[in-house]
Amino acid sequence: MPALSPTRGPQAVPAPTPVPSGPTPVPTRVSADALDLLTDLTAAGVLDLAAVTDVQMVHRRSAGYRITLQDGRRWFAKRAQRRVDGTWSADLTTEGANHRVALGLPGVRPLLPRLVHARHDILVTECIDDHRHLDDHRAAAGGTDPVAAAALGSVVRRLHAAGRRATGARPVNHAAAAVGTWLSPTPTLVAQHPAGFTELTVRIRAAGLAAPLTRLAAGWRSITFIHGDLKSDNLFLRAADDDGHPAVRIIDWETAGLGDPRWDVGSLIGNHLFSWLAGLDFRQGQTLADWLAGAEVPWPRVQDETRTLLWAYDAGPADDHPAPLDAAGITTVGGYAAVFLLQRVTASALTAPVLPPLALAAVQVAAALLTTDAAVELLS
Ligand SMILES: Nc1ncnc2c1ncn2[C@@H]1O[C@H](COP(=O)(O)OP(=O)(O)O)[C@@H](O)[C@H]1O
Ligand SMILES: [Mg+2]
Repeated sequence: MPALSPTRGPQAVPAPTPVPSGPTPVPTRVSADALDLLTDLTAAGVLDLAAVTDVQMVHRRSAGYRITLQDGRRWFAKRAQRRVDGTWSADLTTEGANHRVALGLPGVRPLLPRLVHARHDILVTECIDDHRHLDDHRAAAGGTDPVAAAALGSVVRRLHAAGRRATGARPVNHAAAAVGTWLSPTPTLVAQHPAGFTELTVRIRAAGLAAPLTRLAAGWRSITFIHGDLKSDNLFLRAADDDGHPAVRIIDWETAGLGDPRWDVGSLIGNHLFSWLAGLDFRQGQTLADWLAGAEVPWPRVQDETRTLLWAYDAGPADDHPAPLDAAGITTVGGYAAVFLLQRVTASALTAPVLPPLALAAVQVAAALLTTDAAVELLS
């Protein structure tokens, strides 16, 4: 019986290679796409199609496949999609190169899944099974988790400290790219997307954010190797071990490079703020203060979690500190957290005819972080 057979598509089912020993592969029905990927990986010598017992597809920006091999190994294959305009959904050449840079940094290797195979359209890594995405982990812990926050703060600090000696990393400036999208969107971008995106750019200007965003982007300092896209989707946590430390794994290194370490810290804070805002009920009351008062997870707990993260990042030897979090550092981290919130709003605005209530609240919080001393007050 074949190990795998397509559920649709024109391909004939390849004849299985006899398996010399071990258990018989579990017969699995797979899509033509998955079969195509496995055939490709077999041709590249990465695996043997006949030894695959299961493949599960995960639909994201790029297609993802959890592959189980007969010997029990589990891999995750990410495959970039070619769009109709000829561009690709992800730059896996850069992602593979960055993944290698990170694996080579002292003390950082345990934070990443092992790299099995990398080429321009496919990236195969070890599958992370016994961990949960950051926000699922926080939800399971009741909405916030200061212990996980401390672990995140210290691993990101470790990455940034080691990253100062990274060689071969390309420079990145994510703040300039994000701010440019809002303040000088190209005609193509505006033409391609419905009114929600234009509404967002108008609101950003109306809230007086053009000048602070421009100043923030001008203050970017490329001083160490950063991840560049730290958010729940790209962070896996495992419940605390006996020593009380939850293990952290970081994936998706496509946007990594030589950049501003405060960007990564701001992204983590922005992620915490955004997922908390997503749990507010905007039908109750009119102002941010009303929504905060009715929040299921009380604001002081989120603040405590956030401060714990910053404290853990800031702790440790001063001599290899990439970005001390004094008042100016905190203000910049708060600014980058605001950019994170606006980026999340942008992602939904690109497909929405109007901005939903969560987007408007996120713009308000971003404005507070960018235009007042809120960052220092809230975060330190
Ligand atoms: N090594 C892995 N192990 C388990 N799941 C993974 C792994 N890599 C990616 N994933 C899953 O696939 C999702 C998308 O992968 P990611 O590399 O972040 O791609 P994208 O560029 O589309 O964001 C992740 O959020 C995660 O759920
Ligand atoms: Mg991702």
